[in-house]
Amino acid sequence: MCIRDSIYKVDDKNGRLYQSYLGQKLSFDSDIVQLPLGNEAYLTHGMEDYFEPAIRVLHNDGNPSLLLKYISHENKQLQPGVDETVILLKDDKYPVEVKLHFIAYPKENIIKEYAEISHQEKKPVTLYNYASSLLHLNGSKYFLTEFAGDWAHEVNMKETELAFGKKMLDTKLGSRANMFCSPFFLLALDRKAEENAGDVLFGTIGWTGNYRFTFEVDNENGLRVLSGINPYASEYSLKPNEVFRTPEFIFTYSTEGKGKASRDFQRWARKYQLKDGEKSRMTLLNNWEATYFDFNEDKLVNIMDEAVALGVDMFLLDDGWFANKYPRSSDHQGLGDWEETVTKLPNGIGKLVKEATDRGIKFGLWIEPEMVNPKSELYEKHKDWVIHLPNRDEYYFRNQMVLDLTNPKVQDYVYGVVDNLMTKYPGIAYFKWDCNSPITNIYSPYLKDQQSHLYIEYVRGLYNVLERIKQKYPNLPMMLCSGGGGRCDYEALKYFTEFWPSDNTDAVERIFIQWGYSYFFPAKSMAAHVTSWGKQPVKFRTDVASMCKLGFDIRIHEMSQTDQQYCKEAVANFKRLDDVILDGDQYRLQSPYESQHAAVMYANDNADKAVLFAFDIHPRYAESIQPLRLQGLKEDARYELKEINLVPGTQSRLACNGKTFSGEFLMNVGIPVFSSRPTNSHVIEITEVK
Ligand code: DGJ
Repeated sequence: MCIRDSIYKVDDKNGRLYQSYLGQKLSFDSDIVQLPLGNEAYLTHGMEDYFEPAIRVLHNDGNPSLLLKYISHENKQLQPGVDETVILLKDDKYPVEVKLHFIAYPKENIIKEYAEISHQEKKPVTLYNYASSLLHLNGSKYFLTEFAGDWAHEVNMKETELAFGKKMLDTKLGSRANMFCSPFFLLALDRKAEENAGDVLFGTIGWTGNYRFTFEVDNENGLRVLSGINPYASEYSLKPNEVFRTPEFIFTYSTEGKGKASRDFQRWARKYQLKDGEKSRMTLLNNWEATYFDFNEDKLVNIMDEAVALGVDMFLLDDGWFANKYPRSSDHQGLGDWEETVTKLPNGIGKLVKEATDRGIKFGLWIEPEMVNPKSELYEKHKDWVIHLPNRDEYYFRNQMVLDLTNPKVQDYVYGVVDNLMTKYPGIAYFKWDCNSPITNIYSPYLKDQQSHLYIEYVRGLYNVLERIKQKYPNLPMMLCSGGGGRCDYEALKYFTEFWPSDNTDAVERIFIQWGYSYFFPAKSMAAHVTSWGKQPVKFRTDVASMCKLGFDIRIHEMSQTDQQYCKEAVANFKRLDDVILDGDQYRLQSPYESQHAAVMYANDNADKAVLFAFDIHPRYAESIQPLRLQGLKEDARYELKEINLVPGTQSRLACNGKTFSGEFLMNVGIPVFSSRPTNSHVIEITEVK
């Protein structure tokens, strides 16, 4: 069985399934037959293998072993450009079966893999391990890049060589699952990962909860990569005939380095996975960093005027608009009570929607519907809806607790937060859905004696809610936020048009944060706001945010006239070029991890339009500055270069501004765009001259 660049074979003698190959796609059957069998594809516990298994099952007679034999497979087209192969495996002593699903996107070079586990024993069997995917790799060396950090410090890239034994990347945080480690990795074979050369595997798991990646190098220097739900504290009692479906592990294998793998992921996401991935996005003005909890109707209406002057599409009202018994005047109270605070907003959300509509802009609203402050009416009425240990003192993360989404009544309630608001105020055009706490006080009042299902059922409950919202409001854009980038997985992004990568909006930090996420996510999925967190020039901050989905979170009237004018022009430029920036192919040209400069460019499908962003961060005195070579252009086409986003009243300092070059020159010789000025930036529009 050939599934893009991986090949599976069955051993004629023992009837078991093997992963024979993973690498550059092979085209000739005459070669494929010569490949050795390889390693068993979905390894089980209790048989001859001595390393980490994909599946471990305890049968109800106490036998802990499983031996899976190949039964059959089928191929089908799910839609044009998407093929599925399903391989059925069964144990010949116990009625347990595993279906391995591989969904291939040949054009984008992406494979999704998941497993379905079921049985017909008389009583439930216990699943201890249940990987979505097991991949075997054979290289001389393995270099793993992880993306870890913390609040306001997300996706720091660190590359390490793997040696014998195991390295795990996992989370046990439940709801704000990715606060310390993002659910993706990249793995280079033989040598460290390079941008434009070498073999790399990129993998990510579509699961909005606890995940685990295990990388294990064995005694023969083979590497197995196991991906799936984190089985920690999550043994699963599987009833007869119930199908346990694992989340999807999504991966690509590139022989042309990281840049190609990222572009494949970004294209695939826009086309198939991200909600409204091929549709446009709204620029916005948010009030969180501009006001925090300190606002009233007049102040918000003034900010709407600023949004209009700036030329953005929407005003987004953040935290602090709700609750009356315990008004949400700080993060200590009110979560769960989703009615407008009458003292702050006497005319309610309806009036704000109207004010926005009258000004020709849209209105968006922040919610955090999975959570509750103990100081709230919801907590007072429904303590049984809150995840908490019945016999212990409560402890809080950001003064709040997590609602028990395993409970269908709680699912109805959380769904109702959106549904009630939309029913009452159909003019709401957007939600920012936040989630600021991990699961704490880990006990579900609803699950009672099945506590080991809590982490899994929580995520399933969340998907039920999100699915209902998507069914009823298919065109409602939403931002996925979790105290910054605490949630950023591709299953959640089926329901969200974008995510909030970090609360850290310092523009220098954002260069690194956006760089890190760009390995897996397209620019249009990343909300990037200009704020006052960093003290760099407004131009620098805006140029950084313009590399993704541009927004603002700042009091515009407090800026100088020049800066206001600059921002207005930058918004207009972004809107004019957003088809290139948000839908084009991205090329990472200069890494901020390797120098005091960074450069990213986007080119459209025909390569007749491109936009280049170049930044000097903190250059060294008298450092030698090299020309920057571009990518993604046509060698024989001629391009005119024009610097845009210039501060009003200033001229471009770039020698290339206004000149015309061939693609060959731009990609092989390059242009000087860097300087020794700190926090300096250039945006260059590149247009083919026809
Ligand atoms: C955390 C988010 O990341 C912020 O953008 C903001 O919405 C706050 N929560 C509000 O409490």
